[in-house]
This record gives sequence, C-alpha cells and structure tokens, in this order.
Amino acid sequence: MRKNIVAGNWKMNTTVQEGVELAKQVNDCVKAGHNNCDVVICVPFTHLCPVAGVIDTAVLGLGAENCADKLSGAYTGEVSAPMVASTGAGYVILGHSERRQYYGETNETLKAKTRLALDNNLIPIFCVGEVLEERENGTYNDVVSSQVEALFDLDANDFSKIVIAYEPVWAIGTGKTATADQAQDMHAHIRKVIEQKYGKEIADNTSILYGGSCKPTNARELFAKPDVDGGLIGGAALKADSFMGIVEAFN
Ligand code: 13P
Repeated sequence: MRKNIVAGNWKMNTTVQEGVELAKQVNDCVKAGHNNCDVVICVPFTHLCPVAGVIDTAVLGLGAENCADKLSGAYTGEVSAPMVASTGAGYVILGHSERRQYYGETNETLKAKTRLALDNNLIPIFCVGEVLEERENGTYNDVVSSQVEALFDLDANDFSKIVIAYEPVWAIGTGKTATADQAQDMHAHIRKVIEQKYGKEIADNTSILYGGSCKPTNARELFAKPDVDGGLIGGAALKADSFMGIVEAFN
C-alpha cells in the first residue's frame, strides 16, 4: 500500500549553518518519535552535503529542490541529477509552481528532469497545481490532469516510483489552505487519471501529497482524507516544532 510522507521544502531559506542546525533538530525529533509516515527534508543544493553529514538518511530522507534537465556539460550554474545523488540525497522536487512560474519550466523540461532523476535513483516529488484563475473559472481538473499526463511517457515501473504533490498555487505561502474536501476531490481526480493510464494497482500505490499553507493546525484534517497521503510543507518546515507538529498529525 502507498506510503504516507511528510516532506519539507525549505525553498531559498537558511544559510548552510542555519540549515545544518535545523536538520539536526528534525533528525533528533524523528529518531525520538514513533512516526506513522516517512519524513523527508528537501534543501538548497549548497546544504545537501553538510546536511547529509549530520542526519541519518535511513530515518530522515534528504532531497534537492530541483535538478538540471541535462546530464552534464557546459551548463553554467546548473546542478545535475547525478550530482544530487552523489550527496546522499534520495529525492528531488520537480516542477514546483515557483519553478514553472519564475524559471519557465515546461512539461518538456520536466520530462527530461524526471528521466534523469529516475536514472540516478532519485525519487521525484512531482508538483502539480492550478493558479487562482483556473480554480475560479473551473478548469482546474483539466489543468492538473495535463500536468500529470506530462509523466505518461514513463513505463509503469518508472511511474510507480513517482510521488505526486498537489499544490494549488493560490494556497502556497498565502495562509489560504485548500479545504480538506477540495484537496480530497483533486487527489481522487489525480488518482483516477493515473488509474486510467496505469491501472488500479499503481494508482492505489501512488503517494499524493498536499501542499499549500499546511500547518500543524490543519494537517490532521487534511491527512484524514482517504486520498491525501501526506504533505509538502514550505513555511512550516522552517521550524522543527511546526514541522514535527505536521508529522505528528499521522499519529
Ligand atoms: P507553504 O507551506 O509555505 O504554503 O508552501 C508550500 C509549498 O510550496 C511546498 O512546496
């Protein structure tokens, strides 16, 4: 059966020193607790190696927030999937709405990134989600279907390694969370789209996380929904106590 996962996305926050401190705190809490979910932190590239040195990646997963769409070569400033994997990371966030919106990521670049992540044994946390206008004009299901369908070149074995994160853009960093029912409806829709392509078993085994102003105060209600398998957490992942409050929503 699918895993429950709570993953932090630190975005462009913390210095290396602050990040190492935060990672140590989260690691200690995860080791001390009896958690009913996998816990992952996705950190800036600069933080991957030092954080890998202070956490136990057997209990606290480590991920990057992006990787390049090329394997290697003259791409100044880019960080490849093999580079990320060589730090000890096991995950990579791909297609975050901030990457789509501010850095022009398209389905084509995301297909290449996903291929390279999988080839390097990184689990992609693949983000999808509609903007406010699409929520209001009623096209949100179609928008999200087409984002998920960007992965449908993958064979079933590769697709089964993907984690999906539904992050309605209007809920990210706004304090405006989707209601638990809105999240459930979209997660069920995504699972149906996956089932139509890959069959019920793979659809049932795909973890679909919710992201967007998820906090200790609303996580329990969101995670109680049958198709919500955890969260991708931004702001609340920057303090160990609020992040762990979300992890504990599964207890
Ligand atoms: P917030 O939790 O800050 O709304 O961010 C969500 C997000 O974008 C996680 O990837």
